[in-house]
Amino acid sequence: MGSAKFLSVFSPASKQQRQDNFENYWEFTQQHGGQLFEDNKDLAKKRAKLAHFKANPVSLRTPLADPDAFYRNCVDMKDDPQSLDKITLMLTGMYKFARHEWVGIKGAWDVVPNMANSHTVEDKISRVHLAEEFCHWRLFDEMLRTCGLEKVEWVPLSPGKEWIYEQFPKVPGFLMDSPAFVTELMGVTYYFYLDRLIDELLVDEPEVRIRLKELLDEITIDEIAHVGQRRNFIGPVGIKVSKMLVKPFYKLFFADIPEVGILFDIDQMIKDGEAFDFNEVPDYMVERSWIPSYCKA
Ligand SMILES: [Fe+2]
Ligand SMILES: [Fe+2]
Repeated sequence: MGSAKFLSVFSPASKQQRQDNFENYWEFTQQHGGQLFEDNKDLAKKRAKLAHFKANPVSLRTPLADPDAFYRNCVDMKDDPQSLDKITLMLTGMYKFARHEWVGIKGAWDVVPNMANSHTVEDKISRVHLAEEFCHWRLFDEMLRTCGLEKVEWVPLSPGKEWIYEQFPKVPGFLMDSPAFVTELMGVTYYFYLDRLIDELLVDEPEVRIRLKELLDEITIDEIAHVGQRRNFIGPVGIKVSKMLVKPFYKLFFADIPEVGILFDIDQMIKDGEAFDFNEVPDYMVERSWIPSYCKA
């Protein structure tokens, strides 16, 4: 492993290194996403990418056998999941994952300072980060539509659960930074598994397979940057706590998405999360993403 380019995401970092990395990330994120359209929770470059995909649609050669199975099970699993085919499980699982993300960011958007009231580089980074997450939700929506699920609707959680999500961003940073970091790490782990599953399940659907992977890449490249960025909020004690949180967090989150445990090996996902060091990230993603300086060998 002497040639490894990157170090564990749990590698230590000094306060000065973290401050420098925030500045560096802020430079990166502005050119990466382009102009922030705050009223629309959108970013110029991401908007253009999505518009390009929508203007050049592709569709399945063989449409989904039972789209109603998706609509019936996407919010809550009503059928016996073992009775569903793997493509349906992949798509309902994606919906559930994206819905969690969507609910979380809706709650946070109204609570964190807007750009006009962001006075620190960390606040500005967080505002753009949230806008990127809204773009991910739109990209997931497009992935489902690409599979012919034109009737997909985004259903809010119950008001009580939505309220709980709205409280998270109000919790002080030293308590929330580790969970926020581990959540991003979990996202990256899931997206890498999802990418391989798309290859496996859509061998006979080259156009849709390629498109889904292009859409997912747009998300994954951002999320890799988010992993480093959220890690950068964390001090020496918090980073140890974060590593301990990987297992319970992954287990807790995926317990709500039964599809994940059927399609993937959650114990292996946890091991991958604990061992994450950017070396498995393909070069074309590294080039477009961001990695903290102290994670570079
Ligand atoms: Fe995301
Ligand atoms: Fe993210």
